[in-house]
Amino acid sequence: MDERVALVTGGTKGIGAAICKQLALEGYFVYINYRRDTPEKDDLINEIRATGGKAKLICFDVTNIDEIQIAINSIVHEKIDILVNNAGFLQDDLIYKIELKTWHTVLNTNYFGPVRLFELIKEKLLKGERPSVINIGSISGIKPRAGQAAYAVSKSMIIEWTNVMANTYTNKINFYCVSPGPVKTQMIIQTKWGKDPNATKRIPLGRFTEPEEIAKIVHLLDKNNFILSGQNIVYDGGFINTIME
Ligand SMILES: NC(=O)c1ccc[n+]([C@@H]2O[C@H](COP(=O)([O-])OP(=O)(O)OC[C@H]3O[C@@H](n4cnc5c(N)ncnc54)[C@H](OP(=O)(O)O)[C@@H]3O)[C@@H](O)[C@H]2O)c1
Repeated sequence: MDERVALVTGGTKGIGAAICKQLALEGYFVYINYRRDTPEKDDLINEIRATGGKAKLICFDVTNIDEIQIAINSIVHEKIDILVNNAGFLQDDLIYKIELKTWHTVLNTNYFGPVRLFELIKEKLLKGERPSVINIGSISGIKPRAGQAAYAVSKSMIIEWTNVMANTYTNKINFYCVSPGPVKTQMIIQTKWGKDPNATKRIPLGRFTEPEEIAKIVHLLDKNNFILSGQNIVYDGGFINTIME
């Protein structure tokens, strides 16, 4: 079997970096997407290569169709076996306070980002072996906390898109969504709630998720095609059950 080829968006930090490391460890060739030139992207690729992994950095903003097209043209592999739509943007606010431009940025990144990228890369995915598209959703897309309006809507859209696409591409491409609760990354640590020392008390299993746990689920979904396509896997230590309607 050829080596599997992956493309991971928002791959240089947080959950995305953990997914890139996990897939490289499992022998995948990983295209690591980034949009900002930061030292963490060089640290990540050096770390992967130092442990014998194969990876290449690929620059584009998921909201920019021209940048995506240029980046896809630079991919030397004929096929992509797994696309991980991980890049995401969180801006919490109460619904009546959200400005239109925030709605636009959140939906354009978290929902239209994956839709746009899939449309541009689907020919390569259809050449893949047992290809899969794995979207990173959120429990906010199922049961949002107050103030998560735009983010919650974007994540519920991506969960439903996963389901619709699975039905459209049956036996051609598997689609999955992974919906974490709070994960220990910059996205959550920098929020008021993430900084609260008592935050984890609200999680029945008493801790935040580690990014590596999500990375292992992504790999499991890609390698095991016995898992029904279209599903949304919730991984949250029971947190969703504590959120009030
Ligand atoms: N952390 C959590 O508790 C949690 C829970 C549920 C779901 N999630 C989801 O998990 C995914 C990863 O989040 P994380 O916690 O790892 O957050 P993170 O550390 O903030 O990483 C987000 C990544 O997305 C990238 N990104 C954002 N907008 C982009 C764009 N327009 N084009 C390309 N890349 C873009 C960021 O790049 P820059 O560095 O350039 O901004 C960054 O690499 C997101 O979809 C998030 O919604 C996170």
